[in-house]
Amino acid sequence: MTEAVVSFVIERLGEFIIQDAKFLFGVSEKVEFAQTELQLMQGFLKDADVRQQDDEMVRVWVAQIRKAAYDLEDVIEIFILRVATKKQGGMKNVLKRFGCVLKEGVDLHKIGSQIENVTTQLSNLRSSLQTYNIKEIRNSRGAISLYERQQQVRRTYSHIIERDVVGLENSAEELVRHLVKKEFSHRIVSIWGMGGLGKTTLAKQIYRHNKVRRHFGCFVWVCISQQCQVRSVWEEILIKLISATTVQREEIAKQKDNEIAKRIYLLQQKSRCLVVLDDIWSIEAWESLKAAFPLYGEETESRILLTTRNKEVALHSNGFIHQPHPLNNDESWELFEKIAIFGREGITLEVSTTGI
Ligand SMILES: Nc1ncnc2c1ncn2[C@@H]1O[C@H](COP(=O)(O)OP(=O)(O)O)[C@@H](O)[C@H]1O
Ligand SMILES: [Mg+2]
Repeated sequence: MTEAVVSFVIERLGEFIIQDAKFLFGVSEKVEFAQTELQLMQGFLKDADVRQQDDEMVRVWVAQIRKAAYDLEDVIEIFILRVATKKQGGMKNVLKRFGCVLKEGVDLHKIGSQIENVTTQLSNLRSSLQTYNIKEIRNSRGAISLYERQQQVRRTYSHIIERDVVGLENSAEELVRHLVKKEFSHRIVSIWGMGGLGKTTLAKQIYRHNKVRRHFGCFVWVCISQQCQVRSVWEEILIKLISATTVQREEIAKQKDNEIAKRIYLLQQKSRCLVVLDDIWSIEAWESLKAAFPLYGEETESRILLTTRNKEVALHSNGFIHQPHPLNNDESWELFEKIAIFGREGITLEVSTTGI
């Protein structure tokens, strides 16, 4: 029962992130954190739902989760009622709706901290799982959870290129210069900024840049994302670095973590490699990954390009930090024209000022 409630709220938050929150600085990220907390909890709820009949403590635990899920839904619902009721489609209306955020005095900060409070509650509830000995019930073999599905959707691939990119030339050039610099330079270049700012898009521009292609001898792109599985990230890096055959892959799968980390480390010391770590969410993730990278001591020409929405990660990794700027009015207009007008034959768009 609680599992069903939580599933519903997760879906609801997902829709909110896609349709509404992405225009509202800072909020979508918080909603995503909350959503992840619920997703991490989901697998345990089946067990808890069954056990709550006999165990008072578990019953209270489950009730608290249900309440937190409802609280989250309430915050979102209130927000949508106040801001997004004028939803009729069209660019004009989208802009009007978000203009209301200012007009109606909706306090984004307040919404953000309400969401944060619930997320902290959820996270505390999750830490008490072990106390009650609640077990995770995984989906049947082959079936993947909503969380895993979302991870797949979010995965970034270096070969998928955005067609309509604007305003990134200067930043790309600057970062390329850092990466290919011969004299002393940082071994890590971090691109830091809020979700949706264009970090991955910029990293792709750099990864495919002519000067970068000519300078480095091997290239690896890995998408880290929210749930960082160190072992599988390392395996993926090693497989890509050596273009592993099936036999080599089987060998790698049998190796110990420290052996894999050492191999990656030595390969980067020997050759000139560029490794992109896309979307590192936490310092812990970076701390656990970094054993495989030659960051200090002996000279190496290999470089790491990482993207993160967490400023602490960028600072902690101790490299050159770049924060992309949001598109300015001209760039936004250029992008809008590229997407909405060009390449759509037979459509004439009448664009007028929105008056917000
Ligand atoms: N400079 C840009 N020009 C065109 N589209 C962009 C630009 N920056 C970002 N986008 C688009 O915005 C969306 C989010 O960008 P992304 O690079 O994934 O952001 P981040 O990695 O910071 O979360 C993508 O669909 C991307 O194509
Ligand atoms: Mg990204």
